[in-house]
Amino acid sequence: MVELSDQKIKDVIHVGNEKFVPLITKEQIEKRVKELGEEISRDYKGKLPIFIGILNGSFIFMSDLIKNISINCEIDFFKLSSYGEQKISSGKVKLLKELNADINDRHIIIVEDIVDSGLSIDYIEKLISNFTPASMKVVSLLVKPNSLKYNVEINYIGFEIPDKFVIGYGLDYAQKYRNLNSIYVLSEE
Ligand code: PRP
Repeated sequence: MVELSDQKIKDVIHVGNEKFVPLITKEQIEKRVKELGEEISRDYKGKLPIFIGILNGSFIFMSDLIKNISINCEIDFFKLSSYGEQKISSGKVKLLKELNADINDRHIIIVEDIVDSGLSIDYIEKLISNFTPASMKVVSLLVKPNSLKYNVEINYIGFEIPDKFVIGYGLDYAQKYRNLNSIYVLSEE
């Protein structure tokens, strides 16, 4: 579990009356993404996996992750939305983009930026159950273990984080701040 107290506060981002402080640095992200890439490359040696990013949030992690994959692979994307402009999930998932690839008989790796309640992954698992992939695993850069409400298995986890709202490195607040290269957490001070 990443604790805020472990980090040196270098920078603060103000959004209206709210304040976001650093939680995971660019360097920590780079190191962990490299490790995940190496682990997945070892596990899928001799196979041709297809990485399926869940847009929008996963786009930066997906990009960095596959640059650390040393075996042949393919990519595709689903686009989902559940949070809208809010910090709390609407509880309803909308499918905004289908896959282009045929995933039957393929080894698929779902790529998420964050698993919060698990609703999105649960939805994806149900969608995928209409197909017959050779295997399916999930990699998520961030997981909030204390927020999980759905019984989903995350096979590769970058960081476990507290149940607090985070932005940066693909994660948004009302669509903004995805471009930050570190991850920031809403301060309760
Ligand atoms: C975010 C994130 C995950 C999902 C995680 O997506 O990218 O897909 O929420 O939360 P959950 O485990 O409670 O489902 P969001 O709906 O905010 O859309 P975005 O990816 O476009 O930011």
